[in-house]
Amino acid sequence: MSAHPVRHFLADDDLTPEEQARVLDLAFELKQAPYDAKPLAGPRTVAMIFDKQTLRTQASFAAGIAELGGFPMLVDGALAGIGVRESVHDVARVLGRQASMIVWRTYAQARLEEMAEHAGVPVVNALTDDFHPCQLLADLLTVREHKQQLAGVTVAFVGDGACNMGNSWLLAGTTAGMHVRIASPEGYLPDAAMVERAAAIATITGGSATVGSDPLAAVTGADVVVTDTWISMGREDEAAARAEVFAPYSLTTALFEHAEPDAIAMHCLPAYRGKEIDAEVLDGPQSVVWDEAENRRHAQKAILTFLVQGAT
Ligand code: NVA
Repeated sequence: MSAHPVRHFLADDDLTPEEQARVLDLAFELKQAPYDAKPLAGPRTVAMIFDKQTLRTQASFAAGIAELGGFPMLVDGALAGIGVRESVHDVARVLGRQASMIVWRTYAQARLEEMAEHAGVPVVNALTDDFHPCQLLADLLTVREHKQQLAGVTVAFVGDGACNMGNSWLLAGTTAGMHVRIASPEGYLPDAAMVERAAAIATITGGSATVGSDPLAAVTGADVVVTDTWISMGREDEAAARAEVFAPYSLTTALFEHAEPDAIAMHCLPAYRGKEIDAEVLDGPQSVVWDEAENRRHAQKAILTFLVQGAT
């Protein structure tokens, strides 16, 4: 038995403010010297399972695990049929005997929690319906690179505040001591429980969490402006209705001009130009979206290192 309980990264606030800062410091160090640290030497195997589409997540985890000296084992979610062909519980016990860690992109957060309960090895959320915490570590690293700090920085998230990215910005942003503003149409605001969870974190870190339905109010004076697709994976049948209700929440050039003059524009990608974001913003000089994509690798290497070393 290990001396330390197995730690997981299932939601952004699984890391304390101190731990999040430590992981971000490590990500920064790993970015400077990507081939020096080999905590997965062996190679130790990390299972990567995808029940939803992926580009950045698969590529950045595979490259990052290899750089850490490990072996990225791709498990096809469709072939495995987790929860259909066999239970999450049984899959967890099998993969936990093959791999040192499990990285899983799936639908319900409860599936991930069940995997973590039974795997016996660290489990990492590679996106669920509720959270995208690896993206947020990359995003916080990106903000720190461009704004030199996180505490006290104001971020406006405009769009689907009830999706994984809205929730993760609330939790990760407040953990970092940021002022997080969410602007979403009625019916697409984050759950009250999520806002309370972020507000509780903010009381410790000095950040804040504000939600509303006025995109102009959210963006005005912001240091960072974020958006995401209006149609998250699994919501494709709502595309037409969402296109209509989200139209006033598009991150247009005109809206972005209300942010601070040196504000940065962020998007986790994939992006739909002319829908949630203007091409002029996404491809403009204040966009940092390609840094975010690169930083997935550095940030994920840091969280994997933190977890494999026993998170002490
Ligand atoms: N909210 C988006 C994020 C994609 C990386 C989705 O869940 O599809």
